[in-house]
Formats: sequence, structure tokens, C-alpha cells
Amino acid sequence: MSAGVFLLWLVSIPLLIQAARQPRDYLISCGATTEIKEGALTYIPDSDFISSGNTTTVQRTDIFPRLQTLRFFPNAHATKHCYSFPVIRGSRYLIKTVYFYGGFDGGSAPPVFDQIIDGTKWSTVNTTEDFATGGSSFYEAVVAAQNKILSICLARNQQTLAGSSPFISSLEVHYLESSVYNSTNFDKAMLMTVARSRFGSRDDAIISYPDDIFNRFWEPYKDESPFVTSNSNVTTTLFWNIPPQKAFASALTTSRGMTLTLNWPAFPLTSGLYYIALYFQDNRSPSPYSWRVFDVQINGHFFFQQMNVTETGQGVVGTNWPLSGKVVITLSPSPSAPVGPLINAAEILQLLPYGNKTLTRDAAAMEELRKELVNPPEDWAADPCMPVGHSWGGVHCTGTEPFRVVSLNLTGYGLSGKLSPSIARLTAIRHIWLGDNKFHGVVPDMSPLKALETLFLQHNKLNSSVPEPLTKRDAAASDAAAVGIGYSFPDNLGSGAASGSSNSKSAKANSKERWARDRESYMTDADDALPLPMTHPDSSPMSPEEIDKRLSCDPEIEDCKPMVYEWTGKCRSCQGSGFVSYYNRRGKETICKCIPCLGIGYVQKITGRDDINVMEDLDNGRPS
Ligand SMILES: *[C@@H]1O[C@H](CO)[C@@H](O)[C@H](O)[C@H]1NC(C)=O
Ligand SMILES: *[C@@H]1O[C@H](CO)[C@@H](O)[C@H](O)[C@H]1NC(C)=O
Ligand SMILES: *[C@@H]1O[C@H](CO)[C@@H](O)[C@H](O)[C@H]1NC(C)=O
Ligand SMILES: *[C@@H]1O[C@H](CO)[C@@H](O)[C@H](O)[C@H]1NC(C)=O
Ligand SMILES: *[C@@H]1O[C@H](CO)[C@@H](O)[C@H](O)[C@H]1NC(C)=O
Ligand SMILES: *[C@@H]1O[C@H](CO)[C@@H](O)[C@H](O)[C@H]1NC(C)=O
Ligand SMILES: *[C@@H]1O[C@H](CO)[C@@H](O)[C@H](O)[C@H]1NC(C)=O
Ligand SMILES: *[C@@H]1O[C@H](CO)[C@@H](O)[C@H](O)[C@H]1NC(C)=O
Repeated sequence: MSAGVFLLWLVSIPLLIQAARQPRDYLISCGATTEIKEGALTYIPDSDFISSGNTTTVQRTDIFPRLQTLRFFPNAHATKHCYSFPVIRGSRYLIKTVYFYGGFDGGSAPPVFDQIIDGTKWSTVNTTEDFATGGSSFYEAVVAAQNKILSICLARNQQTLAGSSPFISSLEVHYLESSVYNSTNFDKAMLMTVARSRFGSRDDAIISYPDDIFNRFWEPYKDESPFVTSNSNVTTTLFWNIPPQKAFASALTTSRGMTLTLNWPAFPLTSGLYYIALYFQDNRSPSPYSWRVFDVQINGHFFFQQMNVTETGQGVVGTNWPLSGKVVITLSPSPSAPVGPLINAAEILQLLPYGNKTLTRDAAAMEELRKELVNPPEDWAADPCMPVGHSWGGVHCTGTEPFRVVSLNLTGYGLSGKLSPSIARLTAIRHIWLGDNKFHGVVPDMSPLKALETLFLQHNKLNSSVPEPLTKRDAAASDAAAVGIGYSFPDNLGSGAASGSSNSKSAKANSKERWARDRESYMTDADDALPLPMTHPDSSPMSPEEIDKRLSCDPEIEDCKPMVYEWTGKCRSCQGSGFVSYYNRRGKETICKCIPCLGIGYVQKITGRDDINVMEDLDNGRPS
């Protein structure tokens, strides 16, 4: 969809209204170095939300300031370029991306590329037509946050010409009230905005913030039908989607007894399921003798029967309409209705099913691995395997469900940092090639990696001894050959190096070990903060054996319980009581029982609950 770019419209936006909805919302001017105020909205620089890409300016001063700067991504080796926003898991957000090419790269045609939300390809960005007509392009979607981080990525596709770079001018993420678009089940799909119009307006202005609290754009739409205006005071907060009051200020209508036919949206739709919201409001004072009653049909199918429009307005929502090509909305008056039908505004959004996802435990392990890197590759963000063709650099995954990491080849990536022990949870991995980097510290125990065929760690600064299982297998030379382990010794590893006890730094001297997985966990005295996997209220701790079993369950070869889920995080409380209170963002308390930990200072949680997603929102400590 296109929108104007010129400063002119600024004058029509009142300057004194507070942008009260921030800070749950993010309004970003990409590539900016300072805050930018446009009317009542303040756009902030994007550097806190992305670490890759270059910034530049469009050499024009007659356009919105937020479009004068942009960020572009010249690194063609990176598979994706991601913005990350902290969000509340499960909450709905409206995302708007805005692109104004402005010839920033000295070329004449805007690059074409993809945009991705949380691992699902959202759409292709092609701003060619809008740019040719002097406008910016915007794309809008409604999603429920699937994690605590919402990622919005740009990526090259087959149409991206060599030498051109994906770019972005502005990005908005608006928190939506709970009733907005709530009739859609966001577990399976997100919504992509196709059109949002107000009908019969006299002027050509797009309604946006502050009239629309989420800064949605309501574009004017007219056809040959007559239109009427209305001065009534509609309480729009009573409508689930909270449309702006101004959207009710005009309507398309027709004479008494006539059917109103609306060819909207103005372009054909791709085949799919659509969410449709229609808004009606009678512009006349109530009268017992002159009601407007009509049936609403979409492409000949009843959408709503006997709509009796009132002065306070009506909204009707259809959540799963299969549509393809042209759409015709007809409003047929009931034979007795003394006044013709009318329609004020409408929204149509397409359902986009979420794409596949990396198996949660592999995604979590990769995330841990990334956290230990000082300079993670630029495309190590969002889902590690998805979408297909846009996995993290050096990461290769299975092509069918479950989607798992099968090889990690970071040879010569110039990476420094430690190797997280989480690498041992990538149990489907066959090849680990980490040579020619600057990894330091201990080589993690890779014994759980039963599928591992090759491991190369040469030319790093790793200083531990060879990991135990490999030494063993290596010692039994014939075994090694049998399992096909091609192990290349890190060149600076000596057999005499201290053996890597990963918890030596936190285990207290002389402390009595209460329960510990091999080389992993120590309990000190009873007053010590209990580090530990928590179980949910009223359940008993799992035995170390059960945890081991679940940890090593490999969905590729075993029948793992599908809801097995691990959760690892810093343990800050517990205080020896055996219980710990966790609070979610809304202050709701969950009391968990602690059992000894796996890895000092960290909790690791395994549970059979399938609603365990909730746990990620739990925060250790009461919110301030
Ligand atoms: C992007 O930034 C990098 C690092 O600052 C610089 O080396 C590179 O030349 C820049 N690329 C372009 C196309 O401006
Ligand atoms: C981008 O859009 C323009 C104008 O609609 C079209 O001519 C062009 O083929 C599109 N480019 C790609 C790569 O799809
Ligand atoms: C949507 O929200 C409204 C207002 O809170 C509520 O009345 C309605 O039942 C909700 N609808 C669904 C499908 O949850
Ligand atoms: C609209 O209605 C609201 C509450 O019902 C009232 O506060 C407001 O003053 C009214 N506005 C107009 C222009 O009548
Ligand atoms: C429409 O609503 C009005 C006011 O609520 C009522 O008087 C009228 O009878 C209704 N008409 C029909 C056909 O339901
Ligand atoms: C998800 O993966 C399956 C194969 O396991 C594939 O058939 C399907 O098309 C994929 N879905 C998407 C949205 O890519
Ligand atoms: C890993 O990458 C290196 C360098 O790009 C390449 O030579 C090697 O064949 C790759 N190994 C695997 C297992 O793909
Ligand atoms: C590895 O080297 C670092 C720095 O040289 C040292 O602090 C650390 O104790 C060493 N670790 C082991 C297990 O030898």
C-alpha cells in the first residue's frame, strides 16, 4: 500500500496531543541518529534494535523527516537482517514497515526483497510502483507475539539484484488492546492488512494518529455511489477494533429500495482466507418510521442478515472468509425499509499461517550458543532454521519436521567467545566445524551428541583437555572408526591441560554435595540459594534419571513426549525454602518448588505441561 511522503500533511496533525501510548509501542526512524517528532508522534533511532546494516540519508528535505534516513544491508552473505523488539508474549501487536527508496544507492529502481516476522515469510517488498508515483510504501500486519522478542527481518530473495541492498525507512510496533482483532485465533496465523478504507469522504486525507490510536491508515475510497456525511458522536471504543471516530463521518449510500454495490477493495485478491470488518452508522436521528435495514452479502454469500443500522453504529466481523480475485459487497435493503443502505468503513486482512519453526530445544540451544559469542554472525537472529533458505549463517537444518540443526559450519568466521555447553543439546547434529576462529575457554562435553560424525575445532584458543567421551572413543580406536568420528585435535590442546570442570568456579570448597549430575551440579548447605529446576506447584521434583532421560530424548529416533520443554535461566532467588515465587508481567504469582540445579547459578526446567510457554514470561522477582 502506498502513502504520501510530503511534509505538507504535517500541518493537519495537531501538535499538542501527547503520544500517550508509548512506551509499549515502538516508533522507529531507521538510520536516524536523533529523535524525530512528527506531529504528536516521536520516532526514535533504530540502533537499539538492530546491530547490522549501514545507515544513509535520502537527499531530500521536502519529505517526512522519518523518511529522510534509512538503514540498508549491503552484506549479501548474511541470510537475513533482523530488528528485535522486547514484547509481551501472547499479546497482539500491529506492525507497520515503511519504505521510501529515494534513490539512496544512486540507482533508479528500488531493490525488491522479502520481509519476515518471527521466522514466517510475511511478504515481498516491491516499492517500484509507489516510488515511481512519488510515494512511500507501507506494509502492515497483526501478530501475537510468540516469544519475548518479536523479530522483523529483511532478506534478499531471487528477485533481489546483485549489488542492491534491502533497506527500510521506518518501523512501527503498536501494542493492541485485548479486544482488537480478537476474533482471530492467532495461534496458527497472523493477519496481513490488505486494505482499510473509509467510504464516501469528501477529502482525500488518510486518517491516522491521533484519530486512530494505533496509527492505522484509513484511506479514502469513493465510487459512483452517492455519499452522505454524519455528525453523530459514535463511541468507537465500544467497537472491538476501536476504529477512529472520523471513519464514521461519511458513508456511501444509495436510494431507497436500491441495492448498494461496492467493488472493494479496488484490486483483485490472491486466493486465501480473509478477515473482514465492516462498519455502519446511521447518519440520521433515530425515528421509529425510518430505519435502515439491509442484508450484507460478499460475493453472493450472506455476510450479515437484517442489519438494522443505528445512530450509535455497528461493526460486523467475519474471521475466515475464503476469497479470490474481485470482491463485491452488496447491501440489499429489506423491502419495507424506508431508507437506503449505507456503509462507512471497512477493513480486510489476509490470514497468513505461521511457517514452520525450529524445534524449540534446538532453537534454545542455538540462542545460548549465540549469547556466548562476542561477535555473533549478523544473521544470527530470530529462528535458526526458518524460513527455509534463511537459516542462521553456517547453520544447516533438516528439511522436514521436526526441524533440527544438523550441521554447524563456522569455519573461518572470525568468531570469538566461549562455546556454550548448550551445544551438547543439539542432539541431531552431525557436523560441527568451528575451526579457524578465536574461541577460548573449555570445550563442552559433547557426549550427548550421538549423531555427531565430524568435529573440527582446530586453530582456536580453546584450552581444555579433549572432551572426555571423545578421548574415550578415541582411545578405543576401533570404536572411533566404527562410529565415524573424525576428530581433529585443537592444536593448542595438550593432554596435560586441566580437565574442564565447568562448575568449579561456583562450587564452594568443602561443601557437601547433595545431588549432582555428573560434573554439573552441586548443592552446598541448606541455607544456600537453591539453584534448580523448578517444578510447577504441587508436583514433585523429577529424579535426576528422569531429567537425564528427557534431556537425551532425541525426537528423531525416539518417541519423546511432545511437550517436554526445557527452560534455562539465571536463578536469583529460592533462598533455601525449597520454593520460589515467580511473577509474570502483570504481577501474577506462581509458586514453584525448587530442586537442585544443573549447572550452578542456572535453572533448568523440564516439565510435562504443554502450556509451559507461559514460563518464559515468568520473571524472577516481583515486578517493581
Ligand atoms: C557499510 O559499513 C561498513 C562498516 O562501517 C563499511 O565497511 C562498508 O563500506 C559500508 N558499505 C556501504 C555500501 O556503505
Ligand atoms: C515490482 O513491481 C513492478 C511494478 O508493479 C513490476 O513491474 C516488477 O516486475 C516488480 N518486480 C519484481 C521483481 O517482482
Ligand atoms: C473480544 O473483546 C470483546 C471486548 O472485550 C469481548 O466482548 C468479546 O467477547 C471478545 N471476542 C472474542 C472472540 O474473544
Ligand atoms: C461525544 O460523546 C462523549 C461521551 O458520550 C462526550 O463526552 C462528548 O462530549 C461528545 N462529543 C460531541 C462532539 O458531542
Ligand atoms: C430497527 O431498529 C429500530 C430502533 O432500534 C426499531 O425501531 C425498528 O423496529 C428496527 N427495525 C427492524 C426491521 O428490526
Ligand atoms: C512446513 O514443513 C512441511 C514439511 O515438513 C512442508 O510440507 C510445509 O509446506 C512447511 N510449511 C511452510 C509454511 O513452509
Ligand atoms: C565447512 O566450511 C568450509 C569452508 O567454507 C568448507 O571447506 C567445508 O567443506 C565445510 N564443511 C562441511 C561439513 O560442510
Ligand atoms: C583457560 O585459559 C584461561 C586464560 O588463559 C584461564 O583463566 C582458565 O583457567 C583456563 N581454563 C582451563 C580449564 O585451563
